[in-house]
Amino acid sequence: MNASPVVFADRMLSLGLARVSEAAAMASYKLVGRGDEKAADQAAVNAMRDQLNLLDIKGTVVIGEGERDEAPMLFIGEEVGTGHGPEVDIALDPLEGTTLTAKDMPNALTVIALAPRGTLLHAPDVYMDKLAIGPGFARDVVSLEMSPSERIAALAGARGCKTDDITVCVLERPRHEEMIAEIRSTGAAIRLITDGDVAGIIHTAEALRTGIDMYMGAGGAPEGVLAAAALKCMGGQMWGRLLFRNDDERGRAAKAGITDFDRVYARDDLVTADVIFAATGVTDGSILAGLKREPGWIETETLLMRSKSGSVRRITYRNPTSRVGL
Ligand code: FBP
Repeated sequence: MNASPVVFADRMLSLGLARVSEAAAMASYKLVGRGDEKAADQAAVNAMRDQLNLLDIKGTVVIGEGERDEAPMLFIGEEVGTGHGPEVDIALDPLEGTTLTAKDMPNALTVIALAPRGTLLHAPDVYMDKLAIGPGFARDVVSLEMSPSERIAALAGARGCKTDDITVCVLERPRHEEMIAEIRSTGAAIRLITDGDVAGIIHTAEALRTGIDMYMGAGGAPEGVLAAAALKCMGGQMWGRLLFRNDDERGRAAKAGITDFDRVYARDDLVTADVIFAATGVTDGSILAGLKREPGWIETETLLMRSKSGSVRRITYRNPTSRVGL
């Protein structure tokens, strides 16, 4: 007799995930613009963990705050949830853009993704070379193997526009200087961001609204898995290759079970089954509104998505400040 396939009962669970994301964002409210990255992150971590532990899941953090010995909470391997319910992998970043939050700059988010056990890449804390485009293009129309200018020409060809009609989002880092110069040589525009490449990649899935057609460059590998989860829900293609600077980083990857260090991961290799994804705005941005406070209440906006259904919800949540200690 065939064993029946495991069903990912994500419909109601997804609503619980929105609560987790909302709570983390609200907890960081008092720390927006206060110049203290650590305190903002800690507040979001505490709230996210408390809410996660109320969910009926047997959850394991696979992308978290760090290795067990460097992060006291939401560390990689930590078991979360009530212990009753589906076995799931969890990828999270309680504050994606700690510096953005501390400086009150756009697009700081709380981010979390949840998928059946064993289906999210256990990405080590190293860099990942990333490339992403939105939905509606032929498979592999661009690739990591292409040079930046070849990618722009290929995307412009697929869109039937000129290269100078393309906008690429890039993290502003010295390591990207050459790539930026090559992108500029094609006439394409560049939206430079100082942090937050999960948001950067999500922008490509809503190109008409955000004006960003493509994302490229090196950022955190854990953030790469979170971004792949978002694109799996919204549509869009993404590729990532781990980048190693030394043997210690290769060792981290080996410890996470990675054997092929040169592998190019497509979106569905980073997230191999259906996933649910929630992100809540902390500071105002082009994807989500940030936290808003009025006398007596605080309001959040959350993006809640399920890859199984392709559904994308934007949830506005208004909560009395007295309930969240404000
Ligand atoms: P934090 O939320 O941990 O501050 O990360 C922000 C971020 O900008 C990520 O979005 C990005 O992937 C990574 O840092 C880039 O790393 P680096 O700052 O070392 O270039």
